Amino acid sequence: MTENDFVLTGKLALPMLGKVCWKAPSNIALVKYWGKKENQIPANPSISFTLDACATTTSITYTRLENSAADFQFELYFEGKLKEDFKPKIHTFFKRTERFLPFLKNYEFTIETSNSFPHSSGIASSASGMAALALCLMSIEKKIRPDIKDDFFYKKASFLARLGSGSACRSIEGDLIQWGSSPHIPNSSDLFGIHYPFEVHGNFRNFHDTILLVHKGQKTVSSTVGHDLMHEHPFAKERFSQAHKNLDKLKSIFASGDLNSFMEIVESEALTLHAMMMTSLPYFILMKPNTLEIINRIWAFRDATKTPMCFTLDAGANVHVLYPESAKEKAIQFIQDELVAYCENGHYICDRIGKGAKQLSTAIG
Ligand code: PMV
Repeated sequence: MTENDFVLTGKLALPMLGKVCWKAPSNIALVKYWGKKENQIPANPSISFTLDACATTTSITYTRLENSAADFQFELYFEGKLKEDFKPKIHTFFKRTERFLPFLKNYEFTIETSNSFPHSSGIASSASGMAALALCLMSIEKKIRPDIKDDFFYKKASFLARLGSGSACRSIEGDLIQWGSSPHIPNSSDLFGIHYPFEVHGNFRNFHDTILLVHKGQKTVSSTVGHDLMHEHPFAKERFSQAHKNLDKLKSIFASGDLNSFMEIVESEALTLHAMMMTSLPYFILMKPNTLEIINRIWAFRDATKTPMCFTLDAGANVHVLYPESAKEKAIQFIQDELVAYCENGHYICDRIGKGAKQLSTAIG
C-alpha cells in the first residue's frame, strides 16, 4: 500500500452533525523506535505490547459548516476543561492529515479527551491520545463512506495516528503490534502497524506490565528532539541494524516461549535506547537514580529466585516491569516489598497486555 491509498476521494455526502467516541490504549515497545525520517517514517522497525489500563478516551462532536472554513475549527477540552495549550498539536495533526481527510475544514469539532492515568505521571499520552483521535476521525469517515471495510478502517486509523505521533500507530489494535518495514515480516509497513503475523507462545499471551512511576514531572528532552538527534548520531547505523536483528531474533523466541532470551532482548533494547540518548550531541539522561536502583533490584531478585521478570523503559525515568501470568504473585509481592519505595509517592500502575481500542457509544450520532 502507498499513502495514496488512504486519500478519501470522490464527492462526499457529509452528514450534518454527530458524535463519535473511542477509548485507545497506550503501548510499550519491546524493540524500540528511536530515530525517524520525514513524516514519522521510522528509521527501524519496532514491536510493542498493546496495554489495557493506560488509555485515553476521546469524543468528537461534529457540526457541518455552511461553507468550508479557511482554517480548522475546533475546541479542545481536557478532563472537562478548555485546554488552549493542547490546540497547536491538534492543529498540526489536522494539517498533516487533511490530505487524507478532506472533510476536516467542513466541520466545527468539539474534542473532549481524558486519560485513565494521572496527567503528570510521566506516562506519555501521545500514543493513546493520537490513536483515540485518529479512530474518532475514522468513525466520521465511516459515516461519510459506510462501505469501508474493517481492515481498511483500522489500517487507516493506524496510518493517521502515526502522523500524530509515530508510536501511536501501534495503539489501535492488540495485542502484539509490529510497525516498520522489515524484509522478514510479510506485509510489514512504515505506514502503519500490523498484527504480529507469526506464532506466539502462550507464555506471552497474558503478560503483565507494572509501571513504576519514578518521576512524575515533565521530562527535560522531548521525544521529538531525541528522534532528531539520531540524524547525526555516531552509532545510528549500528543501532538501526541491531533493531532489525532483535526483531528477527524474536521470531523463534515468540514461537518457543523462551522467556530468558525474550528478557535479554527487551532489557538490551531499553538500555540501548537510553544509551543513544547519552551518546547523542547534545547528550542527555532521562533515567533517575531510582530508575537504576529498580533495575539493580530486579536483576538481583531474578538471579536469586529465577522469577521471569524484566524491565523496559520508555523515553523517561519510569520503569515498566514485565512478567508473564505465571509469575504474577511473586512479581507483585516483590514489587510491593522492594520496588514501591523507589516510586514517587509510592505510585505505580498495574497494567497488562490488551486487545486494542474500543468504540464507545454516544447519545447522538
Ligand atoms: O512516538 P514518539 O515519537 O513519542 O516516540 C516514542 C519512542 C519510544 O517510546 C521511546 C519508543 C517506542 O518505540 O515507543
